[in-house]
Amino acid sequence: MLRVVVCVSGGGTNLQAIIDAVKSGEITNVELAGVISNKYGVKSLDRAAAAGIEGCVVSPKDYADREEFNKAFLEKVSGFKPDLIVLAGFLLKIPEEMVRVYSGKIINIHPALIPSFCGMGYYGLKVHEKVLERGVKVTGATVHFVNEGMDEGPIISQKAVEVHDDDTPETLQLRVMEEAEWKLLPRAIDDYANGRIAMENGRCVRKV
Ligand code: GRF
Repeated sequence: MLRVVVCVSGGGTNLQAIIDAVKSGEITNVELAGVISNKYGVKSLDRAAAAGIEGCVVSPKDYADREEFNKAFLEKVSGFKPDLIVLAGFLLKIPEEMVRVYSGKIINIHPALIPSFCGMGYYGLKVHEKVLERGVKVTGATVHFVNEGMDEGPIISQKAVEVHDDDTPETLQLRVMEEAEWKLLPRAIDDYANGRIAMENGRCVRKV
């Protein structure tokens, strides 16, 4: 049984998809050990509580500087003794020390087809605003292993989603969530937990 910690920053719809997938058996061999938010009062924490999962907050506001926060964040994560760390709508860059300690054990969901519309400044609704601004006809979501870069780690899976002419950033975000994010992330966790994928030599390899 793998211990999984989920890091969140907001509404937690990806967290909810994971919780539901564990409950339904779509994800096996996983125990959701904890949820860590970098913000107080977010819905993600309510979702964790409703599912009986320990939730906590490690906020940069509570520390003198980013270095102090990074240290506290890594300590909190490590306290859960995770086998896998899932960034589900988590909006902070993972400290390099944490990437080193948990190399190959951190995955992230990004709401675009990396390497498009990703990197510094591309998160949440902003991604979909840029997609509509550029006028691309297809977007989607990507699950990837986390490395020292921002959205640059080895890609695990991707799913394309059509852009409609009458889309707003909000309608597009919802479709990308429903058709891509909420499917890809649980599947990637189940694949990892059951030894079907791993990160080797900087790439995602499929084992079976
Ligand atoms: C989603 O667009 C997700 O892809 C991005 O953050 C947004 C909110 O995610 N990383 P959630 O509802 O908090 O899971």
